[in-house]
Amino acid sequence: MTSRTGPSIQDLFSHNRAWAAEMERTRPGFFSSLVKQQTPKYMWIGCSDSRVPANQIAGLDPGEVFVHRNVANVVVHSDLNALSAIQFAVDMLKVEDIMVVGHYGCGGVLAALNNTRVGLADNWIRHIQDVRDRHRGLLDNCRPDQRGDALVDLNVIEQVVNVCVSTVMTDAWAKGQQVRVHGWAFGVHDGLLQDLNMTVSGTESIESVHRSAVAAVVAARS
Ligand code: CO
Repeated sequence: MTSRTGPSIQDLFSHNRAWAAEMERTRPGFFSSLVKQQTPKYMWIGCSDSRVPANQIAGLDPGEVFVHRNVANVVVHSDLNALSAIQFAVDMLKVEDIMVVGHYGCGGVLAALNNTRVGLADNWIRHIQDVRDRHRGLLDNCRPDQRGDALVDLNVIEQVVNVCVSTVMTDAWAKGQQVRVHGWAFGVHDGLLQDLNMTVSGTESIESVHRSAVAAVVAARS
């Protein structure tokens, strides 16, 4: 095992008390206003990876982004966990933008690419292998050092489609609700978010936006 250095559990509580005191000092009333309700404009669907914290990356305060994270930011058609979070965000919180955010160097995506056995998670990662297999020709044409990043991009693009074809989004758009779904990728190496130009604002545009986003991956990575 590699040795780990880091704060102790007790440190976490003292960090927390210091943070809460600092917030209250610099922004009096911050917490009492949070109590009333949450009204986030954004929903973030990202990877559980510890290097990709939604609020910090996007500069958002508590109350500003509704977050769902899992291994490799996958949205499975029958995943009640993800679908419930999306439904709550869209129907109850009325978020205006949902972003699916992948990240380069994602362990789940690389395991899918390389057929690495992890354990139980292999069955979850199988969904990313479906993405890999669907785009096999494209990935084969990528420069070898770009294949991992290309699959990160393609996984985001396909998961955006999965959000968009869910009953939640289909019904919301049919009612005329204004909500967009975006695909982004985060660079752990530089701290920067990339827009993959996979922004969908209605059922009718899913296919054309998907086509151009995939074409952009081909152009960038081959
Ligand atoms: Co990841």
